[in-house]
Amino acid sequence: MSKDLQKLHNESLVHIATALDLAQLEAVELSLFSRQNGRLTMLMKEIATVLPAEKKAYGESCNTVKEELIGSIAKRREELTNVRWKTIANDERIDPSAPLGTSSSSMTRAQKKNYGSLHPISRVQYDLEDLFTSMGFMVLDGPELESDYYNFEALNIPADHPARDMHDTFYLKNNPSWVMRTHTSPVQVRAMEKYGAPLRAIVPGRCFRNEATDPRHEHTLYQLEGLVIDRGINFAHLKGIIATVAKHLYGGETKVRFLPKFYPFVEPGVRGEVTCFLCHGTGCRVCKNTGWLEIFGAGMMHPNVLRAGKIDPEKYSGLAFGLGLSRLVMLKYAIPDARYALGGDLRFLNQF
Ligand code: DAH
Repeated sequence: MSKDLQKLHNESLVHIATALDLAQLEAVELSLFSRQNGRLTMLMKEIATVLPAEKKAYGESCNTVKEELIGSIAKRREELTNVRWKTIANDERIDPSAPLGTSSSSMTRAQKKNYGSLHPISRVQYDLEDLFTSMGFMVLDGPELESDYYNFEALNIPADHPARDMHDTFYLKNNPSWVMRTHTSPVQVRAMEKYGAPLRAIVPGRCFRNEATDPRHEHTLYQLEGLVIDRGINFAHLKGIIATVAKHLYGGETKVRFLPKFYPFVEPGVRGEVTCFLCHGTGCRVCKNTGWLEIFGAGMMHPNVLRAGKIDPEKYSGLAFGLGLSRLVMLKYAIPDARYALGGDLRFLNQF
């Protein structure tokens, strides 16, 4: 085989193998076999100048090289064609930087990561925990499965007391002295037993009521209980704390009013209302045209309750309040149905 033919053979095999797509391969093919100036065509034409004795061998080696190159071009063509189809069919081309929806359907898209977010109840709860800890309150927890004693008895609600009717209670089937706590107030007594006086604490938590659910009622709700016990604690302290909370939640203009309400564990007891954050007192849909929103119950701790917590009511007095956390959240975010909060529906949760 002539040196030129050998060189062309070797170089062409490399060009064919490294052609990255069909267009490059066609260019290599043309450079070899073009009728006018293909490199192999030219070499084959040189047969005219070869000595007669060598013509046969020269012709044969030219044909061998030609066939080999045609063969490897065909093989490479098949490879490149297959790669292309495979890529499209298997969705293998990945552009990780492409935002969702911009890449063609034949590409694997960059997947958007779904991060969770804080539940609206947790948001308001953490916000209030920050506020109360800044005023020197501890944040406490208590059991959701509670004894009848802490949930009722110790809070001055004896077995036959009509106030129990206010609480639709889930009792344990085989042991009615245990209940799903109906409010966070039982932690008042647990806290007194554990820490004594003086005491400043809040208790955010989940409570349960055995009632038919509708847009305004849910069997599971969140409350935030608070208590302050010290020498000389009086109603003015209660008003001060509640006003601070109301202004923090709804702005500096917010007013608070107290209306008498009976709760067995406080004396006097009040229900507390704040001026509606939407209409600022003029009346609107949110406050049902009253201008006021009821958001808490409160009062001065009953001496019997202090005693249940082993605290002497002659020495100490206390105030207590219970904020309807679920209700605060519904009002804050204008949530129309109490059942959305714990329904687990992502269409609701993703909005926060
Ligand atoms: N525990 C009451 C309820 O669930 C709310 C409440 C009222 C809590 C007055 C208090 C209070 O601490 O003083 O309806």
